[in-house]
Amino acid sequence: MSPLEIQAFSLEQLRRHRSTKWRDFPSEVLPLPVAEMDFPIAEPIRDLLLEMVRESDLGYLGAIPELPEAFAQFCQTSMNWSVDPAQVHVVTDVGVGVVEVLRLLTVPGDQIVISSPVYHNFSTWIQEVNLVKVDVPFEDDGSEWGIDFAAIEVAYRSGAKVHLLCNPHNPLGRLYTTAELSRIAELADQYGVIVVSDEIHGPLTFSPHEFVPFLTLSETARRVGITVTAASKAWNIAGLKCALVISHSDRMDSLLKKLPPATHYRASLLGAFASTVAYSQGGEWLKAILTKLDSNRYFLATLLEQKIPEIKYRIPSNSYLAWLDLNELNLGENPAGVFLEKGKVAILDGRGFGPQGRGFARLNFATSPEILTEAVDRMVVAIS
Ligand SMILES: Cc1ncc(COP(=O)(O)O)c(C=O)c1O
Repeated sequence: MSPLEIQAFSLEQLRRHRSTKWRDFPSEVLPLPVAEMDFPIAEPIRDLLLEMVRESDLGYLGAIPELPEAFAQFCQTSMNWSVDPAQVHVVTDVGVGVVEVLRLLTVPGDQIVISSPVYHNFSTWIQEVNLVKVDVPFEDDGSEWGIDFAAIEVAYRSGAKVHLLCNPHNPLGRLYTTAELSRIAELADQYGVIVVSDEIHGPLTFSPHEFVPFLTLSETARRVGITVTAASKAWNIAGLKCALVISHSDRMDSLLKKLPPATHYRASLLGAFASTVAYSQGGEWLKAILTKLDSNRYFLATLLEQKIPEIKYRIPSNSYLAWLDLNELNLGENPAGVFLEKGKVAILDGRGFGPQGRGFARLNFATSPEILTEAVDRMVVAIS
């Protein structure tokens, strides 16, 4: 059997999409900020959704043992991660999962550690629960983003309750190594910190790089860790609303039993069953999409080298987000604003990712080579 080939939608097709990516800007703007892919979803997911809609099977979500079981099977085969389905809880989305877990772990005013530049909604979730953000930024040596363990230890020692980890990291496309995660787990255990690991980008890891799920590390990690993840990013079904919260120790299990029951049925029926199919039948599609994204991450590098060599871009090891260093272009406080205004191309202003994001912007390359080329051409227009 020949390998599955996935073609991105044309711009004309995409303009008919109703998602925020395609509604946030006027039609003359080419949008590449929001983390959705411009590819058709996996056929088994589409078939299931069509069948459910055809049969008006659109009620509330009830018991769905199939989902934790499919997730556990996926984790075992693709990551050698043994998950007990009984320790998997269904929630509305990753944002809701993190917020609900934070409500259980903290009281308003508690400190929470993050490492910027990081997914902008980490800040909004933290605000939602009235926590105090303690930023331990990544250290950039010009070629790698390093972790400041000394600063993490200071934050832990100063009373932080939780470390919210972006594993793998958005927007850097950086994977944490086993050694790094183990050190975080040991420190967390020493200082009584709980690590909440957002692993939504995990399945989108390019070989030979390896994504290390936090709960696979050690007994220590399992004692201090909770994972929140979803099929929504890897299989491009964010609008369907379903995510998972996972624990692997008695301590964390008893905590998660206190999640409000409503978090389960506030997930969508379509999302929960689509996620089940993603984990159980989405392997071929995932492989094909990774091939596309792998090619795009290098294609973008070539485009930028040829057309705007002042932009610095490190090829990510994971997912489809390019973190662009635009400082050499000297475009002022908001380079993304200049591209939008003068080039009619939308990328995400880096400042939302924390102070490290000044002079940076995030570009989503999960699209066709034609749209990527057009985007970079529009960027060229904006700066010329
Ligand atoms: C790291 C990270 N977590 C969570 C989300 C959003 O997840 P959800 O829509 O399930 O809240 C994203 C979306 O891009 C993300 O990059």
